Amino acid sequence: MKMIVGISGASGVSLAIRFIRYIPKEIELFVIISESAKVVAQKEIENEIEAALDSIIKDGRKMFLFDEDEIGANIASGSFGVNAMAIIPTSMDMLAKISCGIADELISRCASVMIKEHKKLLIAPRELPLSAIALENMLKLSRLNIIIAPPIMGYYAKTKDLTSMENFIIGKWLDALEIQNNLYPRWGMHQ
Ligand SMILES: Cc1cc2nc3c(=O)[nH]c(=O)nc-3n(C[C@H](O)[C@H](O)[C@H](O)COP(=O)(O)O)c2cc1C
Repeated sequence: MKMIVGISGASGVSLAIRFIRYIPKEIELFVIISESAKVVAQKEIENEIEAALDSIIKDGRKMFLFDEDEIGANIASGSFGVNAMAIIPTSMDMLAKISCGIADELISRCASVMIKEHKKLLIAPRELPLSAIALENMLKLSRLNIIIAPPIMGYYAKTKDLTSMENFIIGKWLDALEIQNNLYPRWGMHQ
């Protein structure tokens, strides 16, 4: 199985890094980092995304890294046969581009390929509050079977701290992509 993770320039870049850590090693992984995501990472985690991913690579997780301008990459073509893509976090800019079919850099190009090939695409839009434009864009994509999964907290998993709250969100993303995980206690397990 081949999977793409796009990291766009919304808040929560560290969620993407943790999400990648939980993708099983058998899945061939391609990671695209937008230029804005690099700026956000400097502000939020005071680190470069590549450096943060390095520790995961050192743990034996192979992945192919791309910049947004690598529009001629193998993953930009439907013939490469990518099975699933997640964009974590998804900026409002990226959401708008995908919803109108703009494919002017590698993340939006790969998303447009997933849509035309009817492959699984999950987006995690991050903004607060959400404008009517963003909501309309999400509705349009949801009607195309794109999974709209913003990083929304849930308290029923008895989350105690930020890590367990993030595990809940990451676990829900993995569930949506049909990737097995035990990152959060499921409803009914501790009743
Ligand atoms: C520190 C920081 C945090 C940001 N957070 C968000 C956010 O949560 N949601 C959003 O839509 N844009 C956010 N932005 C703005 C985007 O980075 C900007 O719209 C950018 O053009 C998105 O580019 P991309 O879609 O190519 O990654 C943030 C920018 C900075 C510098």
